[in-house]
Amino acid sequence: MKQAIAGYSKLSKEAKIEWLISNYFDDSEKALQLLKSYWHTDADIQKMHDEFIENTISNFYLPYGVAPNFLINDKVYCLPLAIEESSVVAAAAKAANFWLNRGGFKSTVLSTTKIGHVHFIWEGKDVEKFEKFFYGIKNDLLEGSAYLTKNMKTRGGGILDIQLNNKTIEEPGYFQIEVRFDTCDSMGANFINSILEEFANILKEKIANSILEENTVQIVMCILSNYTPECLVKCEVSCAVTDLDSDAGISPEEFAQKFLRAVRIAEIEPYRAVTHNKGIMNGIDAIVIATGNDFRAIEACIHAYASRNGKYSSLTHAEVKDGIFKFWMVIPMSLGTVGGITTLHPLVKFSHALLGKPNAPDLMGIVAAAGLAQNFSALRSLVTTGIQKGHMKMHLLNILNQLEATEAEKKEIIAYFKDKVPSHQAAVDIFCKVRGIKNPSEVKHK
Ligand code: MEV
Repeated sequence: MKQAIAGYSKLSKEAKIEWLISNYFDDSEKALQLLKSYWHTDADIQKMHDEFIENTISNFYLPYGVAPNFLINDKVYCLPLAIEESSVVAAAAKAANFWLNRGGFKSTVLSTTKIGHVHFIWEGKDVEKFEKFFYGIKNDLLEGSAYLTKNMKTRGGGILDIQLNNKTIEEPGYFQIEVRFDTCDSMGANFINSILEEFANILKEKIANSILEENTVQIVMCILSNYTPECLVKCEVSCAVTDLDSDAGISPEEFAQKFLRAVRIAEIEPYRAVTHNKGIMNGIDAIVIATGNDFRAIEACIHAYASRNGKYSSLTHAEVKDGIFKFWMVIPMSLGTVGGITTLHPLVKFSHALLGKPNAPDLMGIVAAAGLAQNFSALRSLVTTGIQKGHMKMHLLNILNQLEATEAEKKEIIAYFKDKVPSHQAAVDIFCKVRGIKNPSEVKHK
């Protein structure tokens, strides 16, 4: 059994690595070299990465790809995508090219409000009196937090609204201060949390000096909500049905009907909706990571939104009306283009420059287009050729790399699959044939 360690975070980076490799690896020299091989050659950049989190011992690479030709609101973008899944960038690029000559993606920001709560317990009896007291101290909350909101106000944002929510039916004594914010181009988590904590202090102080029969509150927690159903973006594509070239030997009309039915299935069937929406997140997460935003928050929020009517459902919708095919989605999306690591991480800065330094609403529209594009490509394959044709074509290189195929072998095997759908077994079989071995276990690994 491995030994536990006290005070690990206080050790130097070298000491952390030394402890780790001597405890967990037989060949500690090899493990050390591997970790070091992923260190940045520029010591300052490495130090910055070390300081992003605690206990950094190395960097974890993800491929950073681009999908050009995204026409979004009449501007052509090249999208940065950080993702490990083989076919995602290819699918994005394919959808971008498809819509480039059909009017492109139209994104509209519907709202940008963020929400946070002070969750607290007040165990008094006269709720009406308490509510009156609360609304009486609203100005104190605003004035007492003015030093925190000053900068945001000059940028055009700040606190939009403060309300008291009575939740005592669900949990005895449970109330919330619910606060709405405009955080401009920042995601706003630190801004919101700081204000909420200040509100909690003010509430405690004001209630202690009040004439309420119960003049104490227990603050449970002060935290923004990552559920942002009032921070919404809509993205859509549309074209004449007759322009829907499916690339698969079926008529545009038949393709439209198959596509619409696939979307309807995702609308009514949660098993399908999860996979359908996962495909949307392929595009969204990849660009959210590349632009230095919090993909966990985006994921949590979008899936909650997909269940807002009590049943998990498709985020996208489609229709054909008067000969026009329309495909769209409305999703919540809380993003920042300033703050966080957006002005620190060199590749994140590169992504923002590549996108022409968008503001937060612009980025919401761009990210939504990446998600809609992914879903379009996935459905287009699913209802025509099947997903494996394109997916396995991209994944083939991973299989060949696992087998440690040489460049010449890869070339020959890729050429072999040019007009066939690859499967894992077929790839292994043809590899063995090309190498002249019976079984892949005969491969001598490096
Ligand atoms: C794979 O990462 C994503 C898909 O499964 C999405 C979908 O089924 O719509 C292809």
